[in-house]
Amino acid sequence: MSNIESILTETRLFQPNEKVKQTVAIDEDTLAAMRAKAEQDNVGFWSDLAKEKLSWTKPFTVGLDESEAPFFKWFTDGELNVSYNCIDRHLATKSDKNAIIFEGDQGGVETYTYKELHDQVCRFANTLTAQGVEKGDRVVIYMPMIPQAVFAMQACARIGAIHSVVFGGFSAEALRDRIEDAGAKMVITANASLRGGKTIPLKDAVDEALEKGCDHVKKVIVYRRTDLDVPMQEGRDMDWMEAEAGMSNYHDPVPVNAEHPLFLLYTSGSTGKPKGVQHSSGGYLLNAHLTNEWMFDLKDDDVFWCTADVGWITGHSYVAYGPLSVGATTVIFEGVPTYPDAGRFWQVCEDHNVTVFYTAPTAIRALMKFGADLPNKYDLSKLRLLGTVGEPINPEAWMWYHDVIGRGECPIIDTWWQTETGAHMIAPFPVTPLKPGSCTQPLPGIDAAILDEEGNELGRGEGGLLVIKKPWPSMIRNVWGQPERYKSTYFPLENVPYYVVGDSAYQDEDGYFWILGRVDDVLNVSGHRLGTMEIESALVAHEKVAEAAVVGRPHDVKGEAVAAFVVLNVDIPKGAERDALIQELRNWVAKEIGPIAKPDDIRFGTNLPKTRSGKIMRRLLRTIAKGEEITQDTSTLEDPSILEQFQK
Ligand code: PRX
Repeated sequence: MSNIESILTETRLFQPNEKVKQTVAIDEDTLAAMRAKAEQDNVGFWSDLAKEKLSWTKPFTVGLDESEAPFFKWFTDGELNVSYNCIDRHLATKSDKNAIIFEGDQGGVETYTYKELHDQVCRFANTLTAQGVEKGDRVVIYMPMIPQAVFAMQACARIGAIHSVVFGGFSAEALRDRIEDAGAKMVITANASLRGGKTIPLKDAVDEALEKGCDHVKKVIVYRRTDLDVPMQEGRDMDWMEAEAGMSNYHDPVPVNAEHPLFLLYTSGSTGKPKGVQHSSGGYLLNAHLTNEWMFDLKDDDVFWCTADVGWITGHSYVAYGPLSVGATTVIFEGVPTYPDAGRFWQVCEDHNVTVFYTAPTAIRALMKFGADLPNKYDLSKLRLLGTVGEPINPEAWMWYHDVIGRGECPIIDTWWQTETGAHMIAPFPVTPLKPGSCTQPLPGIDAAILDEEGNELGRGEGGLLVIKKPWPSMIRNVWGQPERYKSTYFPLENVPYYVVGDSAYQDEDGYFWILGRVDDVLNVSGHRLGTMEIESALVAHEKVAEAAVVGRPHDVKGEAVAAFVVLNVDIPKGAERDALIQELRNWVAKEIGPIAKPDDIRFGTNLPKTRSGKIMRRLLRTIAKGEEITQDTSTLEDPSILEQFQK
């Protein structure tokens, strides 16, 4: 059964157990009161929380400023420093508490207390300043999943520089696009990263990215993660340790306006190059903070492990900022779930007494295949809450996670949100009754609805476009340098300033939301967001490719896999030559974007199926990619014989 089919037939309901009910900070009554307050006075609800939960150097008097809608602003006349909120304010009571527990790919463990984190971040903030980075400058961070990545992010926040973390799995080409678009002054990287026992060079990719153009990049700081030697360019490149030598452990955090951009994070859309999603300082931090308390109930003795890389939004809000803002202990893991074997996640949970664990459905599905014996070998008794993110979780994976990893006792917190939303939007609290495959209800203060194509609100049980009707503090502020694109992408409806999500969903009779998937040409491969157009552009950049169309097809572990239909400008090769070209194109896409974008399936034809007006019939390609029989009307096709070529 496909994920969607199994979601549509799901009827089970799981009530929170007594232990959960008695121990969580937000019980049913508190939650009901929060919802009522948010309903009554949405801006007041968020403003009160912003005052209560964050430390401001200058208190704000304005909650929401809608004067330039849909460019919404929150807490506009307030000032704060995000790094101060994540570190300094905990020092009085938690200076010896572990802020970070790091487990390396090869197993080496390092811990950093809040005091040690403070010193590291201050030293690096002083280094950035010494190297000429100033408030408002952009800094690209292209690092392995190591504590230094978080130090770099926090150091940028401390001086008011705007970071843009680029996932270490992206290629030199993808990195260059992002460095250029952000107009970065500095790149922070490592000589290499370690993953699953393999050394992956990173600095090489930076050198390649900076080969052409990018004159705005003045300095590259290189952390030595392995003993791999890398060439250093005189005057531009500096070793992290050498640059940091002699720097003070003290740094006065720079207060910034609540609306000052904290970071840019590039993400794929249905058209054009990836967009630089611009997040604010105050509003972003508020929701990152709150959702770590609300969804994960983080308390003083918790050890929280979110497995996401800091190259994605999940790693920003649930590794680098949110858990630190609430003063929790956060685990940073450099490795992969299946190295040295598929018990690694469970070993890390046991070794570090992880209490709250947050991962993606694709990882659960991959590990489920190894059976229950492997996790059963480890002591997972400390786990009390389990989270998922990134794609719809199929009920089968939900049940395995619940029964095998959570002993049937841990609530499964299925969190729906996006890079643009900054933090969880629709998700259960630990006390919310759960339905496998549903992300349940919008958080207090979040006003979600489902619309039809004409923009009319739909009733329960009807599928349509998911929208958020009211602005919320951690929402995207802009597409970096492209305000028109921000408006047309996220606020395309006439007359109503609703944020249009890009997902389809429906609400069941209890008001629970069920996410059905993207409505645009965006794929979700292993929880990673990829634009079909980006992959098509990468393919046509190859000398032998004339045209390409990319669609997703269901995949039992990755959720979706990339299928590419390609028209060559040479004859279609046969046999071994054909296989070799397929391999070449797959590697080409990996070089242009990154290995995550590699097509699983590449098929050749002499033309793409198009209507007489020249529109590619993607619907048909999806059917072919799934290996299903074509039942759609093909009479509008220019040349129906094309379809046979693509059907293997
Ligand atoms: O389609 C939704 C899916 O992931 C998209 C957002 O991707 P990205 O910006 O990369 O952020 C991923 C991490 C937040 C959404 O538009 N998605 C995310 N979480 C869920 C989900 N789909 C269903 N259930 C979820 N819990």
